[in-house]
Amino acid sequence: MGFTFFFRDTHSLQQSINILIENLPSSTKLKIWDAGCERGPEPITFAILLAETIDESLFSNFEFQLTDLDENNTFVDIIHNGIYNFEEIKRIPEEFFTKYFKDLGSEKYQLIPKIHNKLKFIKHDLLTLNPVGKNHNLIICKNVLLHFHPDERIKVINMYYDSLNDNGLLLFEQTQKMPEELNNKFTKVTSDASLYRKLNI
Ligand SMILES: C[S@@+](CC[C@H](N)C(=O)[O-])C[C@H]1O[C@@H](n2cnc3c(N)ncnc32)[C@H](O)[C@@H]1O
Repeated sequence: MGFTFFFRDTHSLQQSINILIENLPSSTKLKIWDAGCERGPEPITFAILLAETIDESLFSNFEFQLTDLDENNTFVDIIHNGIYNFEEIKRIPEEFFTKYFKDLGSEKYQLIPKIHNKLKFIKHDLLTLNPVGKNHNLIICKNVLLHFHPDERIKVINMYYDSLNDNGLLLFEQTQKMPEELNNKFTKVTSDASLYRKLNI
């Protein structure tokens, strides 16, 4: 199992939201893909931050695809049930914890439907290079590409290029940089997050 946790690197997630919604009409369909979502902490954190940032009408137009190799077939059920142990969610700031999770007793908490209903998980291997759809406004791929060989990394990022809409955004973890070979396809949009915008070539 990979390593992840709730409210990890919220700065990068919030930066991507802020840049994503700049000049965005509220009728826009927001299509987002979290690739390598593990058991859900990162996409749930993202969705909570998004719900806190945008209005209800834009949030209702938000589609969220989550994918992972899920080698042991465990993430699918966890994300489907949306139930996490207190130990796992105790890092979530108090105000979000009480607002977005229902106490089920026995130290178990369930994500509320507003967020949970948005999470569409499918088991998917990035190295097949088959995108899970087209016209994404944002793809989040953090702490995944580092496990791939450099040539695989380039192929996967090229797949992301094809599945982003014009000017779509791609977010990596802070230490993952865009390979030089792809400098003609993406441009960095902020100095304090590894966030790139698709260039139309
Ligand atoms: C360290 S976790 C990252 C979780 C989350 N993105 C984060 O940054 O907190 C890496 C995840 O990548 C997934 N992964 C590894 N190889 C993959 C592949 N070929 N296709 C899809 N997911 C993969 C693993 O199953 C694991 O859940």
